Amino acid sequence: MTVNSAAVIFFSPTGNTKKVLKSILAGMNVPKTRMIDLTSPTVRASTPPIFEEDIVILGSPVYQSKVPPVLPPYLRNLKGNGKPIVLVSVYGNIEQGIVLNELASLAAEAGFSIFAAGSFIGEHSFSTDKLPIGEGHPSQNELGIAEDFGKKIREKMSGINGMGAHSLTIPGHKLPLLDHFLPEYVSRKITKPPVVDMKNCDRCGICARICPVSAVEKEKLMVDGNVCLRCFRCVRTCKKKARSIEFNAKPIIPLFFTLKNKVKHAPVLYI
Ligand SMILES: Cc1cc2nc3c(=O)[nH]c(=O)nc-3n(C[C@H](O)[C@H](O)[C@H](O)COP(=O)(O)O)c2cc1C
Repeated sequence: MTVNSAAVIFFSPTGNTKKVLKSILAGMNVPKTRMIDLTSPTVRASTPPIFEEDIVILGSPVYQSKVPPVLPPYLRNLKGNGKPIVLVSVYGNIEQGIVLNELASLAAEAGFSIFAAGSFIGEHSFSTDKLPIGEGHPSQNELGIAEDFGKKIREKMSGINGMGAHSLTIPGHKLPLLDHFLPEYVSRKITKPPVVDMKNCDRCGICARICPVSAVEKEKLMVDGNVCLRCFRCVRTCKKKARSIEFNAKPIIPLFFTLKNKVKHAPVLYI
């Protein structure tokens, strides 16, 4: 089957997942693509799309070894109707967790046929100049691997007649031991909500507009710490550098990230 169209559905507050997906698409060389960006709360609140395309690509970052909690409720409403789906996870060089397995279950429940999958590395959302984590990822080399993956997907599609016949099983990953003991959404405990320096803020309001969970109040630009995902999209988007990332004062946290970040991970592909 020739791939003439692809729907790309993704959540990507700091852009790494989107970057990887774009490289995969470049490799696939598909004439028609539709990008469905679930980072926007408005898109997540809208009626789920109907997929007319030949293939669907689903991308998600890793949050505490799992799929970010905002995604499953949306994904459960999708209708796959046997369409092939490619699953992509992107993590911050700490722990890839069980995201590909979770995406596979959600996709199978929605009626998709798992066609290929890959995990990639992106700079960690908590990374700063003082505490770099997963810095430099995805590298040019890794984006090249993503592009090659796209070519392989195209080749595999061209050998397939009829959908659903080639559903792939992704090896089961285990939730890391530590994650069994950590409180739910531990990021809210280890990092403060994005701190704002009002001297630098010009009140453009972009932080409120681009927040994936509308946690930034539009007038005073205060962040609701209980809603904030700690994705730090607002920190990366602010042109005035008025917002910053701060850890709660526990020296063990930077030490944990520094030690974990010493291990260099590489993309893993299933096709
Ligand atoms: C709340 C939260 C939890 C995270 N948990 C993990 C994790 O368990 N392991 C990991 O390696 N990276 C983790 N990350 C880092 C992201 O997976 C990584 O930065 C990814 O590239 C973000 O994708 P995006 O740029 O598409 O938003 C976490 C990020 C956030 C915001």
